[in-house]
Amino acid sequence: MSPENDAPKPRPLGPGDRDFRKRLFFPLASGVTTQLDGYQDILRRAMPLRPGMVRALPRSVRELSLSLTAEREGGPRPGYLSEPRTLAAYAWYYLPWNLIRLSRLLPGLDLDLPEDGLVCDLGSGPLTFIQALWLSRPDLRRKKLRISCVDRSRRALDLGLALFAGLAGFDPTAPDAPWRIRVTRGEYWQGLTGGADLIAMVNVANELAGLSRDPLDARMERVAAQLTDALALGGRALVVEPGTRLGWRCLLGMREAFIDLDMDLSGPCPHREECVLVGGRTRAWCHFTVSPKGAPKWLTTFSDRAGLGKERLSLSYLMAKKAQPKQEQPGIRVVSGAFSLSDVPGSAVYGCSEAGLVVLVASDRRPPSPGDMLAVEVPPGASRDAKSGAPRVFLPVDPAAAVLPDGRGGPVRDPRPHSVPQKTGGGREGSGRNSGKPATGPASRTPAGRPSGPARPGGKPAGAVRRPKKKAVKRPARRPG
Ligand SMILES: C[S@@+](CC[C@H](N)C(=O)[O-])C[C@H]1O[C@@H](n2cnc3c(N)ncnc32)[C@H](O)[C@@H]1O
Repeated sequence: MSPENDAPKPRPLGPGDRDFRKRLFFPLASGVTTQLDGYQDILRRAMPLRPGMVRALPRSVRELSLSLTAEREGGPRPGYLSEPRTLAAYAWYYLPWNLIRLSRLLPGLDLDLPEDGLVCDLGSGPLTFIQALWLSRPDLRRKKLRISCVDRSRRALDLGLALFAGLAGFDPTAPDAPWRIRVTRGEYWQGLTGGADLIAMVNVANELAGLSRDPLDARMERVAAQLTDALALGGRALVVEPGTRLGWRCLLGMREAFIDLDMDLSGPCPHREECVLVGGRTRAWCHFTVSPKGAPKWLTTFSDRAGLGKERLSLSYLMAKKAQPKQEQPGIRVVSGAFSLSDVPGSAVYGCSEAGLVVLVASDRRPPSPGDMLAVEVPPGASRDAKSGAPRVFLPVDPAAAVLPDGRGGPVRDPRPHSVPQKTGGGREGSGRNSGKPATGPASRTPAGRPSGPARPGGKPAGAVRRPKKKAVKRPARRPG
């Protein structure tokens, strides 16, 4: 069968949709880049530093980076952000980069919070998530929200309040504030008040893993059950990790628990079967890599001085909704950057589907971007990719894909609620210097051109991946065991 005959008919992603691709990551909105350009002044006002501390900042950032993930050096000490030097390093480097990461992710997520909704941010540090929500979701600014933030470090929470006030232009602790923020120093589970519409846990799960004697999965199952328990019906849990293998392992443990607790998986997984990257010979893990384009000059200059400049940003995430699991429309999530195939013209990416790992072939050399969701199915009898053994799915060439006024190409729907004009001409994700570097781990370490595909000998036959039945996840007390 020729590739053209192999091409599945695309279908719309949802009622009222014309497109078969839905983008996850968008370029930073111009409103976000403008506010980030001025963010160093907000930082200076919220946290004046003595000259000696300013001089030591690049070194402090390097030291913090060594201890920050539990994979390295056993993870950071409890309460590390209470140490002024460490907090300054976090605030000048990790915080702004996390604002950028989150501002690339949040606009593509379905976060329809109700009026007077309750948002809990667990392990909030300097309120990074809440600041990013304000920055990148202007549609939510008109809503009255109650926000509860908890962290082990009071100093980080107080800094976060001052930074949020600098960004938003109002005191979030005032009784009539549109976003009313209450901060609590304590353990993450103390921020779970019940009836939450959104619970965020950003860059924290790997730290919970680091100090535990329990098996990682058991610990993460317990955390997932605590989050589920505290959500209102229809509420969402959003867990974001830095794109490391450990972060993905944490998310996997939570994913299993969310499925067992009958939560609806909103993303990134397009199915409830076993993760396509578990098992087999591959060491690849699920994470997405995006460009740092739009980062403010002051941040890139400072990062270079610290010897920790960024060519790309990566993250893993998991979102689950407390709702009847949706009857799935099979779809395919792009989980790598573009690469070329030796025997077929065009470019290809790896995709995650209910049928397992697939290779998506774009004959028009306009591959979808990491994170895109495609409403195409794996045709029965699809040919197999020689390297990975995964079925090949030839993407339909859509004439509309050729010309888009913003130059990005691809019939991609922008679901962003922004009223501000979007930054344009950003180029497709994964089409620049990172071309050919897949989001999956080991592949990104191979020489450029061809990623080492997650190797599943023979690939998985369509529909053959079944999650092993697991013991029921216990509903927890609010405290960790
Ligand atoms: C890497 S920082 C992330 C901060 C913020 N969420 C962000 O993304 O920038 C991890 C935070 O989790 C907090 N943390 C770690 N374990 C915690 C626990 N058991 N309870 C409460 N906070 C915790 C730390 O104090 C720290 O502020």
